[in-house]
Amino acid sequence: MLSVDMKKKHLQQMREYRSKLMKEPKLRNLFLELTLRCNERCLHCGSWCGDVTSEELSVDQYRTFLEQVKEDMTTEGKMLCITGGEPLLRKEFFDIMGAAHELGFSWGMTSNATLIDDSVARDLQRVGMGTISVSIDGLEDTHDAFRRTPGGYKKAMSGIESLLRVGGFENVQITTVVTHQNIGQLDELYKIFNEMDIDSWRVINIEPMGRAKQHPELILTKEDYQTIFEFIRNKRIAGEPVTYGCSHYLGLEYEREVRDWYYLCTAGLYTASITASGDIIACLDIERRPEFVQGNILKDRFSEVWKNKFQIFRRDLADENENCSKCFHKDYCHGDAYHSWDFDNNKPLVCFKDILF
Ligand SMILES: C[S@@+](CC[C@H](N)C(=O)[O-])C[C@H]1O[C@@H](n2cnc3c(N)ncnc32)[C@H](O)[C@@H]1O
Ligand code: SF4
Ligand code: SF4
Repeated sequence: MLSVDMKKKHLQQMREYRSKLMKEPKLRNLFLELTLRCNERCLHCGSWCGDVTSEELSVDQYRTFLEQVKEDMTTEGKMLCITGGEPLLRKEFFDIMGAAHELGFSWGMTSNATLIDDSVARDLQRVGMGTISVSIDGLEDTHDAFRRTPGGYKKAMSGIESLLRVGGFENVQITTVVTHQNIGQLDELYKIFNEMDIDSWRVINIEPMGRAKQHPELILTKEDYQTIFEFIRNKRIAGEPVTYGCSHYLGLEYEREVRDWYYLCTAGLYTASITASGDIIACLDIERRPEFVQGNILKDRFSEVWKNKFQIFRRDLADENENCSKCFHKDYCHGDAYHSWDFDNNKPLVCFKDILF
């Protein structure tokens, strides 16, 4: 465990780095939401899949967009993060990703894996998929009820087995969203995943986004949060490839203990996203408000938008809230993540002060 002084020093460096990024952002993660259609209807879905529809971009529109990104910004140091909805529902999926691969983009995907068999896994390898994170949100009955998909757990596990059998991917990860209802299953899930040849397990908390806001029974208590972070820390101390995600400042106790890096909300600094209809936004998880749309790839040149717009994300949220602006952790936390900021009331919806620290 790193000393508190060392963590403070690193966090101070992170602060300086963040200030620099606000002036000179570096695109690293480009999310493509290929569709909002989905074959599951999860209780927590941050994207409201099943309740919303959207136009979709054609293969040619994606190809033109990616050619422009390559021409203006190069493919080097950039990762396409493919998501949805369920991305594999796009029947042109392999044409779109084949085009990205031909252009030289690295890419990874999040998927519910219910549509993956050996043949799909081989096709994913053919079009250059490097990493995949598959959602498993509890033991079988819990997963299926949470995702409102009878048989979903078995199909997802079978999809993971296909990925592992075909092999050749850099990272096959499982992501588990922890809720108040599945938190008691972490040890049993660990035993199951430990028997599989996956590369890592990402354990994240349910976020107050989308449909999750309608399910207070799923929201974690203070004790639940402590349980999650203790669980991840202990597994990591034992050398297990368990990690938390990028969200949230965790205080000096848990920062750098539950993930390989310090907290940094990368929206608009490293991260941009293209919605299913082509809108250019920062992070897909941030509340979808008209004022957050920075352009649309069908009419704007992405590189120009990235360079000249996005100002709304290149600022400190903490300055806009009295509690945050007076907080000792402000320089490390900056008001926490954009995706959990309440823009109506200008306050963080998730703050671990008084919970973890
Ligand atoms: C939007 S889904 C898209 C990919 C695919 N359909 C899936 O479920 O894996 C990407 C990830 O976001 C997670 N997610 C969705 N809503 C969330 C929420 N309210 N809180 C935390 N994670 C959420 C999902 O569980 C999944 O791991
Ligand atoms: S979380 Fe994924 S699988 Fe579940 S409804 Fe949303 S997009 Fe579909
Ligand atoms: S009060 Fe604001 S700045 Fe302080 S820890 Fe909470 S979210 Fe972060």
